[in-house]
Amino acid sequence: MAKINQNYLKLPGSYLFSEVARRISAYSAAHPGANIIRLSIGDVTQPLAPSVVEAMRRAVDEMGTAEGFRGYGPEQGYDFLRQAIAQNDYQARGVHMDPREIFVSDGAKSDCGNIGDIFGTDNVVAVCDPVYPVYVDTNAMAGRAGEYQERLGRWSRLVYMPCVEENGFAPAPPKEKADIIYLCFPNNPTGAVAGREQLKAWVDYANANGSVILYDSAYEAFITQEDIPHSIFEIEGARTCAIEFRSFSKTAGFTGNRCAYTVVPMELERDGASLNALWNRRQSTKFNGVPYVVQRGAAAVYTPQGREQTRAAIAYYQKNAQVIRDGLADAGLQTFGGVNAPYIWLKTPGGMGSWEFFDLMLDRANVASTPGAGFGPSGEGYVRLTAFGGAQATAEAVERIKSAL
Ligand code: MLT
Repeated sequence: MAKINQNYLKLPGSYLFSEVARRISAYSAAHPGANIIRLSIGDVTQPLAPSVVEAMRRAVDEMGTAEGFRGYGPEQGYDFLRQAIAQNDYQARGVHMDPREIFVSDGAKSDCGNIGDIFGTDNVVAVCDPVYPVYVDTNAMAGRAGEYQERLGRWSRLVYMPCVEENGFAPAPPKEKADIIYLCFPNNPTGAVAGREQLKAWVDYANANGSVILYDSAYEAFITQEDIPHSIFEIEGARTCAIEFRSFSKTAGFTGNRCAYTVVPMELERDGASLNALWNRRQSTKFNGVPYVVQRGAAAVYTPQGREQTRAAIAYYQKNAQVIRDGLADAGLQTFGGVNAPYIWLKTPGGMGSWEFFDLMLDRANVASTPGAGFGPSGEGYVRLTAFGGAQATAEAVERIKSAL
C-alpha cells in the first residue's frame, strides 16, 4: 500500500488565505447582496503596464512564426531576463551580481517552499512570529517543524522570533543556534523594515554559525526611505550566507502572470557543496521554466517606460496605504507599517482577538482583513490590511471601518 507523507496530517486545517476566503464566501452566501471590500489577501488590482502588455504581444507574435517559435526554454530563465535583473536590480545599486546566480521562476511563494528540497530535515529552522505562513507550512510538510501544538499555535521544533511593538517588529538573532533563518523585509505581514545594522547583525550571525538566511524581499519596490536596504546582498558578507527571493508579482502586477526569481550566490557553500549547483540541479529536474511570453513581459519592466509605468502603479498602492493609515489614525486606531510596505498592521481596539475583530469588520463594515493570529501567536490582537485594492474601494473601506467602530 502506498504510504503518504505523514507530515501533511499534522498540518492545521487549511492554509491561512484559503481559510479567510472560505469565511468570506460563507458570509456572502449568508448575506446575499453584501458588498464586501477585500483588504485581505495581498493581490494586485491595477492593470499591467502598457510596456509589459506590448512586449508580451510581440512575444506571442514571435511564437506564431517559424523563426520566432520557441519550445522548452532554459530552466533557469532566458539570458535576456537574467541579465536585465542582474544589471537593474543589483549592479545599478552597486551590488555585485552574476546572471548565473539568478534563477527565474514562477513565484516567490513556490521558491520559498521549494528551497527546502536542498536542505536536510535535521536543520533547526527559525522564523519570525508573525510570519508569512508558507515558510512554516512548507517546513512542516518536509518534517522539519516537529509537532503542531494546537494550544500554543506553534510547531515544537521551530524557533519562533517574536516580532512585536517593543522590537519594532524586527527581531535580533536568537540565542539558540538556528541553521536556516527566514527573514522577510519589508515584512509581510507587519510592514516593518530592517536597517543596515540590523541586517549586518544577521549576516554576521549566519556566517559565524554556518546558517543560511532565506531572505524574502518580494516587497522591496515599496521602500520609500532612502537608507533602507532593498537586498540582503547590500550587506557585506551576505554572499556566503544568504539566498534571496524576489518577485514581479507586487512590483509589476504579475500575480496572475507568474514570474519571480531566486538569487543563490556562487560563494554560498555548506557541507562542501555549492548551493547554487544544488538549486540548479533541483530546478532543472523539477521545473521547466517560465513561459517565454511572460519573461519578455518581465524584461519590459526594466525599460525606461516600463519602469515609469510600474512605478506609477506602486505609487498608487502607496497612496492607498497612506489613506488607510491616516483614516484609521483619525478613528483613534493604532497602525504600523504601510510606509515602506503595502501592508498595514492594525492593532485591534480594546484588546479584541484577531479573528473576533475580523468577524466584526466583516459583519459591521463588510470589510475583509487577514487576522494577525493566522500569521503566528504574536500576531494575536492585530489584523493585516492590504493597500492593493482600488483607490475608491480602499477609501470607502476606511470610512466603513470608522463608522462601524
Ligand atoms: C499575502 O497576502 O500575504 C500574499 O498575497 C501572499 C502571497 O504573495 O503568496
